[in-house]
Amino acid sequence: APTRLDAYRAPAWRVETVELDFDLAIDTTEVTARLHLRRDPAQTQPLRLDGENLELLSITLDGTTLPPDAFRYASNVLEVDGARDGSVLETRVRLRPAANTALEGLYLSGSAEAGFLLTQCEAEGFRHITFFPDRPDVQARYTVTLRADRDRFPVLLAGGNPDGAGVLDDGRHWARFADPHPKPSYLFAVVAGRLQSIERDYVTAEGRAVTLKIWSEADVIDRCDYAMDALERSMRWDEQTYGRNYDLDVFHVVATHDFNMGAMENKGLNIFNAKYLLADPDSSTDDEYRHVESVIAHEYFHNWSGNRVTCRDWFQLSLKEGLTVFREQSFSADMNSTSLKRIEDVSLLRRAQFPEDAGPLAHPVRPAQYSEINNFYTATVYEKGAELVRMLAGRLGPEGFRRGMDLYFARNDGRAATLEDFLGALGEANHTDLGPYLAWYGQAGTPRLHAHGEYDEARRSYALTLRQHTPATSGQPQKQALPIPVKLALFDDDGRMTALHLDGQTAKPQTECVVVLEADEQTFIFRGVPTAPVPSLLRGFSAPVILEYDYDATELALLLRHDPDGFNRWEASQQLATLAYVELRDGGASHALEAWLDALSVLFAHNDVEPALLANLLTPPSEVEWAEREASVDPARIHALRQQLQRQLAERIGAEALHQRYLALAGEASLSLDAASQARRRLKQRVLELLCLIDPGVAQPLAATQYASAPGMTDRLGALMALLRSDAAQAPAALAHYRQRYADNALALDKWFMAQAQVPGETALDRVLTLERDASFTLKNPNRVQSLLGAFVRANPSGFHRADGAGYRFLAERLVQLDALNPQVAARLATAFNGWQRLEPGRREAARRVIEDLANREGLSRNLREIVANVRKQ
Ligand code: ARG
Ligand code: ZN
Repeated sequence: APTRLDAYRAPAWRVETVELDFDLAIDTTEVTARLHLRRDPAQTQPLRLDGENLELLSITLDGTTLPPDAFRYASNVLEVDGARDGSVLETRVRLRPAANTALEGLYLSGSAEAGFLLTQCEAEGFRHITFFPDRPDVQARYTVTLRADRDRFPVLLAGGNPDGAGVLDDGRHWARFADPHPKPSYLFAVVAGRLQSIERDYVTAEGRAVTLKIWSEADVIDRCDYAMDALERSMRWDEQTYGRNYDLDVFHVVATHDFNMGAMENKGLNIFNAKYLLADPDSSTDDEYRHVESVIAHEYFHNWSGNRVTCRDWFQLSLKEGLTVFREQSFSADMNSTSLKRIEDVSLLRRAQFPEDAGPLAHPVRPAQYSEINNFYTATVYEKGAELVRMLAGRLGPEGFRRGMDLYFARNDGRAATLEDFLGALGEANHTDLGPYLAWYGQAGTPRLHAHGEYDEARRSYALTLRQHTPATSGQPQKQALPIPVKLALFDDDGRMTALHLDGQTAKPQTECVVVLEADEQTFIFRGVPTAPVPSLLRGFSAPVILEYDYDATELALLLRHDPDGFNRWEASQQLATLAYVELRDGGASHALEAWLDALSVLFAHNDVEPALLANLLTPPSEVEWAEREASVDPARIHALRQQLQRQLAERIGAEALHQRYLALAGEASLSLDAASQARRRLKQRVLELLCLIDPGVAQPLAATQYASAPGMTDRLGALMALLRSDAAQAPAALAHYRQRYADNALALDKWFMAQAQVPGETALDRVLTLERDASFTLKNPNRVQSLLGAFVRANPSGFHRADGAGYRFLAERLVQLDALNPQVAARLATAFNGWQRLEPGRREAARRVIEDLANREGLSRNLREIVANVRKQ
């Protein structure tokens, strides 16, 4: 039966302190846990603890070994008779880390000979380590003692402060860690093995001396410095922006190549997928550097938004994740370019979250029920959740938001909180009722915001009517009106912004304002508008909605040329490209196409737009976004149309102009990571791709030269992808070279798989099948699976959706294999079936059959079963 939000009950038993002793070894590890128990006097249930796949070796209550009839262990619950308030329960269990391929609980990273041991507990991994009330509202003080062979496990780490270490006389040693901050079990972590570290001293704004340590295996320790710098920047930023200081004497960060997710914020001992920690110019692209910076920040920021204030239950997951994503986005915007960061985040939302909200996997940011919580670490909970925090922050303004956050942290420090606690604190600190925003957390689906403007020439007034509608989602047929803040400006024909005199508003007029739609429909009147304006709506993407405004091509072209809001300028180019796409698809007039080509070729020629923004302007929306608009999706056709559009753009700009710009940008090639250098590389890549489309004879040799002489990975991978995608004669040699050069570099090799898996078209599957036979391919490593299978099913629509359904059969087969090894990874990959209901009839039928078969299989994990059952719904 699924777990339900409305069935929440406070725990009947809590754990005040816990002492954990680990006798660590690769094949078997033994764990002793002493739990100091507190009983809720208002509840009468017997003591029940979670525990999965645990081999119970011994059990005592208050010092006495329990007879077999005094406890029962079945269905992942240990029930114990006779426990009282203040009792101490001691259990000893045996684990098998080397056999743990699910990478949840205690597991082995790497080989039995050379690898190391580590844990992943969020959400419910701790119950794979010991018996415990494994829920986030049980917060305990942890003391952890690790014992292991000294040669095999020279480094022993756990969360908290170091609390002693020593040598045992049997060749083993021990180390103890004590965490003074009570924490939920999902934040527990240990790491043991042969690891190297880099170290930095840090003093917090409050004056606490902290040792920062980043750990990795020896071969990659020289790639950890960038993460260390990013960590220091994050710590300073949180002090300055939120007044939040770090609170232990040490902060450990560990890199592993075997990790299900991006990273994990365990108290005092963050664990990272190496992909988001290691960075060096020879193996990391500019994008990857930025990801390292943002994930380091994200996990660090969790120390307050997640650890000091945690979640009452997993339905509140967005309380920590949405908030922490928002905090990370603000940090990254401050470190890099605000409008570029916004463009990236909104594109991600549209590519990953909108499809979720529009299909059978739709769920509210605070879901009402789940069967497997790991399936709810979704774009909705993370990215849409961050958009909701952004709306609240915008509503309160920077000072009001800070006031609210201060109150939120002060009131909830040490607590397991709810989203009501969050909105309550933000509101009360500002004497405002934010209650209406709670509806956003409970309602799935992306609202449509319909906007319509009427200009009254005689009165010189402009009436903007806003109307909202959220389509029904599975299990939620009825939707209510949500508060939707719309940031806007009005432009005259010359592209100048008008001062806004909003009816009923007394503040001094500005060129930008925010109106909030609070009902199904509302009209806002602006006075003193000199001419019929072109509205720039939803600036900076002020609410996570789909805007419907009947722009014509001329209006969009005007915004594309003149809107100083970098985000909306880009948005105008996206809208215009979409209109052009529709014209091309329907074979109608080509006003929008002409306007798009014109505006972009002029911007390109003038060369006064910031290069990174220009690169984004020159990129049409993704195939996934366009598929979202269609009732009967043919991915091959969308791909072909998008290619055609880009070819026309390249032709309009002109091969010669592209070539010259490429040479100019290539001449300035450097390894520098500053924003201007990254921006030039980004534009250079876009120019190269466009040139490949119309003049391969010129472009391919340029790409081959760029590949051979690239100073760093951004240029090297860019060139390789350009060669591959234009099917250049030079591609095979470059691929072979890359394969060999990076044979011992797992993260670089992942990109070799990824680049090939993403080459569009019907032959992609054959390529993937060949790549699976490469000696370095394995289903056991999540990064490798993502880079080949993930890239194929998610980032290659025309390849995966092969007309004969072979892509679907292939995915189903791999899902079954993967599920036996790692259910979390299998379930995540299975979401690639999302949206099959809107495919054109042939593909739809092929997908339906495959999904039916999968749903009817026996023995699937709870993870995969839930996704397949949900995605299957008509
Ligand atoms: N809390 C981690 C983060 O910072 C994600 C952990 C997710 N783990 C999982 N098994 N679902 O986002
Ligand atoms: Zn997080």
